[in-house]
Amino acid sequence: MDDLHDRLKAIEQEARKAAKEAAAQSIEAIRQVESRFLGKKGALTQIVRSVGKLPPEQRAEAGRLANDAKRLLTDVFATTRRGREAQAADEERREAAAYDPTLPGPVRPRGGVHPVTAVQWEVADVFERMGFIVETGPEMESEFNNFEALNVPSWHPARDIQDTFWLTNGLLLRTQTSSVQVRAMRKYGPPLRVVVPGRCFRNETVDASHETTFHQFEGFLVDRHISLASLKAFLQLMLREVFKRDVKIRIRPGYFPFVEPGLECDMSCLICGGVGCPTCKHEGWVEMGGSGMIHPNVLKHGGIDPHEYTGFAFGMGLTRLAMMKYGIADIRLINSGDLRGLIPPERLAGPALT
Ligand code: PHE
Repeated sequence: MDDLHDRLKAIEQEARKAAKEAAAQSIEAIRQVESRFLGKKGALTQIVRSVGKLPPEQRAEAGRLANDAKRLLTDVFATTRRGREAQAADEERREAAAYDPTLPGPVRPRGGVHPVTAVQWEVADVFERMGFIVETGPEMESEFNNFEALNVPSWHPARDIQDTFWLTNGLLLRTQTSSVQVRAMRKYGPPLRVVVPGRCFRNETVDASHETTFHQFEGFLVDRHISLASLKAFLQLMLREVFKRDVKIRIRPGYFPFVEPGLECDMSCLICGGVGCPTCKHEGWVEMGGSGMIHPNVLKHGGIDPHEYTGFAFGMGLTRLAMMKYGIADIRLINSGDLRGLIPPERLAGPALT
């Protein structure tokens, strides 16, 4: 009997130790240990079973000892399991309390706007401050607004200069933002100040300096006593605002059917400071665009009396302006999507890419 007592004591000790170790792991580990001792083939279960094979005079005593041990271990495992469960619930509660939904989320890298868009916004902003309305007009335009209203009838050779995407619905993709001139004149009447930023399209073979899609910025002002001097003053003011310094401009005669006289406008190359570089083809000047005094026929198409009113108009490409503003020396970068060359971080107009 002493022998049985010792064996039960040893099993009890072993079980307590194993239960404690399992408690550090998981509820499942505790269950496994429990079945190792109290399961069908468990160490203690086998002892309880063997009691029946003892001589009858020993059975009662042995049975009592074995059942006591069994009750004790059952208790030990139940307590261990409850302890572990309480601990797990506690951890969960602490984790839930540690989560703060009011904390800011992870910071995502932010992009900046494309240089052409940045310049467009800036130029539009300058003109808005000078009382100009920003009109966009449709990209799909009528032949009348894009050509005829602008003094370019169908037989006019100027149509060949602007190779056009004709659409099957009889309309076309506007080749110039000048298409909004007569629209705006009819919409607002004189006097008026309007700028038109927008995409234009020409059916060109794409190469290093030609694209089928490009961005223009148009401006026109119709009022009494408007002259070329007004035009030059507005352009110079715009450049000073956009570049934050005086930029030299050069005006030469140029032909556009919808202005008379017509001018070509250049600005001093800001990549080389005017001494000559590949960007300005070593001329020191880059083309800004065309301009001039609005042709009387255009005013008439817009319902404005050319004897009473005069006006100026200009149309410039935004690509070169963006290149000058952000120091982008190669035009091919503009549509490349290579942000390293396109948006030097220190020149970024929008929020920085991080
Ligand atoms: N629309 C002309 C072009 O695309 C530019 C221009 C605009 C010229 C206004 C004169 C006046 O080339």
